Amino acid sequence: MGIFTSTKTKKIRPATKLEGTVQMPGDKSISHRYAMLSAIAEGPTEIHFFATSADCQSTLDCLKSLGVKIERRDDVVTIQGAGLAGLRQSAARLDAGNSGSTMRMLSGILAGQPFRSIMTGDASLSRRPMKRVIEPLTQMGARIQLAEGGLPPLEFEGGKLKPIRYELPVPSAQVKSAVLLAGLYAEGETEVVEPVPTRDHTEIALEQMGADIGRHGRTIAVRGGAKLEGKKLYVPGDISSAAFFMVAGLLLPESNLVIRNVGLNPTRTAILDVLAGMGGRVKVLNVEMLNGELLGDLHIEPGKLRGGEIAPESVPGLIDELPVLSVFGTQTEQGLSFHGAAELRVKESDRIAVVAENLRCMGAEVEEFPDGLRVAGNQKLRGAEIETHGDHRIAMAFAVAGLAAEGTTLIRDSGCVDISFPEFFQTLERVIS
Ligand code: S3P
Repeated sequence: MGIFTSTKTKKIRPATKLEGTVQMPGDKSISHRYAMLSAIAEGPTEIHFFATSADCQSTLDCLKSLGVKIERRDDVVTIQGAGLAGLRQSAARLDAGNSGSTMRMLSGILAGQPFRSIMTGDASLSRRPMKRVIEPLTQMGARIQLAEGGLPPLEFEGGKLKPIRYELPVPSAQVKSAVLLAGLYAEGETEVVEPVPTRDHTEIALEQMGADIGRHGRTIAVRGGAKLEGKKLYVPGDISSAAFFMVAGLLLPESNLVIRNVGLNPTRTAILDVLAGMGGRVKVLNVEMLNGELLGDLHIEPGKLRGGEIAPESVPGLIDELPVLSVFGTQTEQGLSFHGAAELRVKESDRIAVVAENLRCMGAEVEEFPDGLRVAGNQKLRGAEIETHGDHRIAMAFAVAGLAAEGTTLIRDSGCVDISFPEFFQTLERVIS
């Protein structure tokens, strides 16, 4: 039973239960935001439980290249705030690695600097759409050049910004955040209107650090020139990482698993509602609030899993959880389907195609739509060789599938889990039987 390590390929054997208590790494989305905001705040910020994710290290490295003093000791990151006007031109190109969040959100800050910057990324990030973030920043007066097709690298000329009111054409927390961050550098009030609510960690962190920010329905307004104050911050465990353990726990019939200190911001908990609606029992315990973010423990108890349809309006709140939910669907009575998720095609991989391809390799019946998937229920999964396409969430979703399958599953290029959850396989191994 369990997992045997090799350099790149992980072998997953079927399991009957997950038992014990696990802790997730610090939330990736929140860690990016705390790092960026404390870099342009006044005074020092101490960030506890900072994400171990390689993506968040990319953010720290970019900020260091911009002259910010950062120290990292285990999961405590100390950042000496340079102030709104304190960043310095980087001698080298800024490298966002695999991280869309780094590239898109940092664009908001770079747009407002009086100097030139170039930001690049790895092969996957170099294929991801950037026009969505450059469009509003250009309306604010930023001068930014993209490569052909609206792709990275991005080149910022620097200059003065003016406030705008921007209606997001696609629900995207990254684009919303970029505009709000740029709004700090514009004179007057910048407004962003969301079609549906997306994760609001930027708004909460801005409030916590003393920015002048208003929220009315779907509109968020930020006033330029605010002084942000450095402070002590705590990052809750990442609910998107916890999703793999929730699903694995629910699929293995004898599980008894507790996941501690998971972030429960209501813009991120759609996964709990969907699982509950489909018969997955996840109890929330010991809820508290830290720096404006809710967190608590999750107790996973397997039961009868019904499956069903995920409504398109729930999709933006579940976007990172859809690969593992698709795996979940194969083990439910009715199966699972969703539409309205075309965004999944432009994540770290084309997650609709890659999930469908790998589920079929495991013997499941899957229907692919331009904007979604339908997986049949009551499927017997067979162990298979999984191509991750270098996508961390695919690697973890199919490790979970492997636990519930017959025979051995091989996860190729499994090192990509480092992007969000370097300790994933070790954590899983500790609670597997
Ligand atoms: C994120 C927002 C989502 C999500 C990504 C992290 C964030 O992307 O998929 O993993 O931290 O704001 P979009 O904003 O592109 O939807």
